[in-house]
Amino acid sequence: MKIGFGCDHAAVELKNCLLAHMKERGFECVDFGAASAEEPVDYPVPGRLVAEAIRRGELDRGVLVCGTGVGISLAANKVPGIRAGVCSEPYTAKMIVEHNDCQILAMGARVVGSELGKMICDAFIDARFQGGRHARRLELIADIERDYAGKKD
Ligand code: RB5
Repeated sequence: MKIGFGCDHAAVELKNCLLAHMKERGFECVDFGAASAEEPVDYPVPGRLVAEAIRRGELDRGVLVCGTGVGISLAANKVPGIRAGVCSEPYTAKMIVEHNDCQILAMGARVVGSELGKMICDAFIDARFQGGRHARRLELIADIERDYAGKKD
């Protein structure tokens, strides 16, 4: 599994820690930055980069971190076909894959610490989509995307 990591300036330390943890577990990891907490990086930039790489099929999963996890997940979710969920505990991280087929986990570096973050990341990476009735619900979400595609307002 190939995993992309992205964060803004508020979350560099947690992103680096999660990337190192996943590397240690043997996964191929790609770092989309930010590289330093000193230089401001607007969260939509890494959120979009990771989401677009998943859409192109270059990554299997993504892990995005900002202060709360919300801003960066909002950006990623604007890329058609991408599903990103914000989690602050492992149960939800497992369910966003099993039921929602999320390709991206988002977390808040100002919300979770590094040990909890690693457990959340493990739950997300180890989970698999269950399909069945859940696939029908995701199709209904995709319908919303299709209905609004190309519309101005
Ligand atoms: C940056 O200060 C902060 O707004 C950002 O990291 C994130 O929490 C936004 O959702």
